[in-house]
Amino acid sequence: MPSTVLVGLQWGDEGKGKIIDVLTETADVVARFQGGNNAGHTVEIGDEKFVLHLIPSGILRPEADCVLGNGMVVDVLGLLEEIRGLEARGITVAGRMWISDRCHLVFPCHARLDGLNESALGDGKIGTTKRGIGPAYADKINRCGARGSDLVHPDRLEARFRRQAAAANVILARTGQPALDVEADWQRVRDAAAALAPMVTDTVMRLHAALDAGKRILFEGAQGTWLDVDFGTYPFVTSSNTTSGGACTGTGVPPCAIDKVFGVVKAYTTRVGSGPFPTELLETVGEGLRSRGREFGATTGRPRRCGWFDAVATRYAVRLNGASELAFTKLDVLDGLDTLQICVGYEINGQRYDAMPADIEDVALVKPVYESHPGWQETTTAALCWDDLPAQAQSYLRRLEQLVGAKARIISVGPNRAQTFMV
Ligand code: GDP
Ligand code: IMO
Ligand code: MG
Repeated sequence: MPSTVLVGLQWGDEGKGKIIDVLTETADVVARFQGGNNAGHTVEIGDEKFVLHLIPSGILRPEADCVLGNGMVVDVLGLLEEIRGLEARGITVAGRMWISDRCHLVFPCHARLDGLNESALGDGKIGTTKRGIGPAYADKINRCGARGSDLVHPDRLEARFRRQAAAANVILARTGQPALDVEADWQRVRDAAAALAPMVTDTVMRLHAALDAGKRILFEGAQGTWLDVDFGTYPFVTSSNTTSGGACTGTGVPPCAIDKVFGVVKAYTTRVGSGPFPTELLETVGEGLRSRGREFGATTGRPRRCGWFDAVATRYAVRLNGASELAFTKLDVLDGLDTLQICVGYEINGQRYDAMPADIEDVALVKPVYESHPGWQETTTAALCWDDLPAQAQSYLRRLEQLVGAKARIISVGPNRAQTFMV
């Protein structure tokens, strides 16, 4: 496997963590390029279940090195807790994981501001994970953020930390909120920084050295295409570029070094948080998908909204990302349904659209045009190859490939690493 970018083609939680784990078998380095601990990537191996938030899912394969790229926003306290949690379960992190000296840091003040912003929006809230992602990226763009390199210089870190905390306290005071306990927060951040400092390096140089040595890099996307700050259902998006272009700006590896983009899609659609969702099912079918698919957020535990497969949105996502190969996940969740619907077009005020409109006001008006497809009654969870799938499941997947314009390469029929096969 040469250098491959893996991205989610829907609204996140497509099963990227599981597919990254599968693909890491043939990768040397796994690099995250954007986002932070808003992500929750689940990997199930045997009886063990891991949920990764900041650490690349590749950490679970002992041969792989991991990189937290410059495009990420790294929660200093959250990262240390995640490392300790993995090490307590026998996974070695030290000596295998590297933090970019140019990534941006997330402190407790960012999470407080995230919560405050959401409260101020009332019914119009984004439904963020409240991990401080938006405020940390805002500081980056406002050119007042603290970066990975500060972790190795406690004096610089302290100055930047205090400036950000003081600015947050002004806003909190103005809105009648309790102030941050700056001293207590600083002591925790300082201690965490000391533990993380040995992992900070110029990850651009490290990744280029890996490429020069002919090593295979897997770029682990987080969130999903429709949460991208440029292309997603703005403003109900996250604050980073979740699409494949982000792999270059978020790691310092140029486009010419990337050989392939791999897209992950669920065999239906989910979304967590607010914002338009054309194929959402509010009644029994949606609830059935949620309970069979255990659709509850891996980071916040919130119920995920569920709906039919949206081929219009996914075809757009395939093009945006340049995805040539697909992993279809959670096919098993559709077992036992009599009929499946696939959204093949959008109608707004009687007019047909074949692309996602830019304005959420228009997306909210979308009436999906559905094509019916026969379901299957067999259980797919034990399928080991394409031929083990019921004929209706095969033709459903073939139709999705045709509609979205990319080939299925991996099929996932259960949460476990073993419940996966190549096509
Ligand atoms: P990610 O954020 O894209 O890595 O996805 P999440 O881990 O947030 O959510 C995917 C959920 O579906 C996790 O609980 C996985 O264990 C589970 N999962 C992944 N693939 C399959 C599958 O093929 N079938 C079923 N039933 N569950 C799956
Ligand atoms: P993974 O990597 C699903 C959603 C939030 C909210 C919006 C903005 O596990 O697929 P943020 O905290 O980023 O400012 O929230 O984005 N969101 C996700 N939804 N999966 C994720 O990550 C998500 N990360 C953020 O629910 O709607
Ligand atoms: Mg997730």
